[in-house]
Amino acid sequence: MPERAHRPSRWQPLRHAALVALALAATPLAAAPPAAAASEPWWAHAVIYEIYTRSFQDSNGDGVGDLAGIVSRLDYLQSLGVDALWLTPFFPSPQVDFGYDVRDYENVDPQYGSLADFDRLVAEARKRDMRVILDLVLNHTSEQHPWFVEAARSRSAPSHGWYVWSEGRREGGMRRPPNNWVSQFGGSAWEYVPAVQQFYYHRFFRAQPDLNWRNPQVEHAMLEVMRFWLDRGAAGFRLDAVSALVEDAQLRNAAPLGGRTAQGDARLSDAYTANLPETHAIVRRIRKALGHYGEGPLLIAETYAQSTAQLAPWYGGARRDELQLPMDTAFGFGDRLDAREFRRRLGEAAALPGGEPLLLFDNHDHARSWDRYGDGVHNAEIAKILATMLLTSRSPVLIYQGEELGQPTATAARVEDVRDPLGITGWPKEKGRDGERTPMQWDASAQAGFTSGRPWLPVATGFEAVNVRTELTDADSLLTWHKKLIALRRGDPALRSGRLVMLDAANTHVLSYARVTSEGSGILVALNMSAQPQTLTLSGTAAGFAGNRFRTLMSSPGEFAAAGTRLSLPPYGAWVAAVE
Ligand code: GLC
Repeated sequence: MPERAHRPSRWQPLRHAALVALALAATPLAAAPPAAAASEPWWAHAVIYEIYTRSFQDSNGDGVGDLAGIVSRLDYLQSLGVDALWLTPFFPSPQVDFGYDVRDYENVDPQYGSLADFDRLVAEARKRDMRVILDLVLNHTSEQHPWFVEAARSRSAPSHGWYVWSEGRREGGMRRPPNNWVSQFGGSAWEYVPAVQQFYYHRFFRAQPDLNWRNPQVEHAMLEVMRFWLDRGAAGFRLDAVSALVEDAQLRNAAPLGGRTAQGDARLSDAYTANLPETHAIVRRIRKALGHYGEGPLLIAETYAQSTAQLAPWYGGARRDELQLPMDTAFGFGDRLDAREFRRRLGEAAALPGGEPLLLFDNHDHARSWDRYGDGVHNAEIAKILATMLLTSRSPVLIYQGEELGQPTATAARVEDVRDPLGITGWPKEKGRDGERTPMQWDASAQAGFTSGRPWLPVATGFEAVNVRTELTDADSLLTWHKKLIALRRGDPALRSGRLVMLDAANTHVLSYARVTSEGSGILVALNMSAQPQTLTLSGTAAGFAGNRFRTLMSSPGEFAAAGTRLSLPPYGAWVAAVE
């Protein structure tokens, strides 16, 4: 969850001259031809849909989403064209971090339903050709997990060594934490337990003690958990906070980076608390241990890297024996709509030696892309540009519930109303993540059709217009745009696995690229990332196409097409065309 992407947007529209005529110069990015579709795994170009379980659909009026609610909305997800669902944790939990503090890894929290509901969800999803991916919190448990309860009682408890303990250091007769590490939720990352006269380490909230992954019993127990869910039909896991599994064995002090966090702590280097080399060996062993399950479970992971290129080690090098899909947070968690930047990032993603990463703009930890990239005037057009970039990419992609509607970030105005512990400890600088976790907006009825009761977080204002039912009947809506793009992506061989050819590499306003099959047919995409109209001179043959005729498939805002080889793009215009 580090490096939170915030609003308000710092995006400033480009103020450059209006019309720029540019010939498209082609730069091929994927030299090797794409693998034949038949030999590709199911997730190779998948659309994965993240469900924030608590906020998707409530079925029993308690104001909290649940598994039965998800089942009741599967037809919607199928009609959207989704291949797999990633469900945020629904395991029994005190809900301090809304499920990311697990008390029992092999059950369903009663507020979300039962194991039988999970089985039904998997079966009903399967009927609709959708897989279910679970969110697995490997780095820490809840302080209420029996492993920790026992571990905190006595040093001789069998599970004591499953957590990260230290006696700390003595200072003036006082016992102090062993080092300066701070928790992401504020304050020291160490908590003293008098019964064992030791401190335990918690990267996240105090109530989330870190597991000690240097202890092989932890790995063994977590593999059992994974087998439990795979046996029940899970298709894979999103490994939460995986880069933080291991800490420096000597517990050395972290170097200060200068400045303070929203919680008032010194900003520190992560060198001793994240991305330690041992982590890769752990992921490799997990992959190997589960490899024999059916088609091989998909391992996605929460991998925060400074750049897309830095994701390379997560695939396991030439052996490709670690993650299939690191999450590329460097791609979409910014706030500037910049053609050069996105050209560079898409290029890096296509060039990763292990295959494309999972691309995304939104999840449950960041202000919504609607607000981050939006300029307050053209948000709808900009959201269509983002969706086009995502869904015409070669990569597997993630859509976060409500992103397809243009749901806004709805952050509480008063600290009393904040539910996320991050917002409580960080207020007012860090207002937490409630804003991106408000209920899914289904229709214009009370509580947006999410619940018949009182929702655990208020529904965002404006839901009467921004909701599934209304947008389904609007040909111009963001939802309709998503549906068309996904249908195109599923049906068009070039969009599925054609190579990516970046065009017009020097253009600072328009991102354009082609997706080309080995037969020379395909799709051309042009996205005007500026507030001024832009004109392009198109050349299909320069992009590797057999022909030079452009048939508009989708355009926004409004309808427009190329005049011969000239294309005029309106401000924030998006254009997708077949090249014949
Ligand atoms: C991940 C989750 C985030 C959670 C944190 C601690 O970053 O995405 O929601 O708070 O892990 O488990």
